[in-house]
Amino acid sequence: MKYLIALIALSTVVLTQRPTGPQPTYSPCQICYYIVSQAEHHLHRGRVEKGELQIALLEECESLRRYQGYQAVQTCVQMVDDNINTILNDVNANKNVTTICQDISQC
Ligand SMILES: *[C@@H]1O[C@H](CO)[C@@H](O)[C@H](O)[C@H]1NC(C)=O
Repeated sequence: MKYLIALIALSTVVLTQRPTGPQPTYSPCQICYYIVSQAEHHLHRGRVEKGELQIALLEECESLRRYQGYQAVQTCVQMVDDNINTILNDVNANKNVTTICQDISQC
């Protein structure tokens, strides 16, 4: 009986600590920083075609779904599609993340 009570108490703790769905903890500015740092990562490994970079970044966007939720993915995809030229040119010109996200005007 003691064990049963302990088990129920433990289950209650686990259940109440479970997050209730994705938390809206993102901002467009944070997403921009995320995308640009991923772009830097890809571009510094060697020459990358625009289409290739775009696909890689869209995959990074998709990975936001689990913790940031669907809205974050949507915002991210839109940002990549609208700004792929700026991201590619600015990273190749060695501009820093702060400057690039100001250019994209998300920050
Ligand atoms: C980013 O670059 C801008 C312009 O070159 C510069 O003013 C700024 O201090 C840099 N920021 C960081 C964090 O390096």
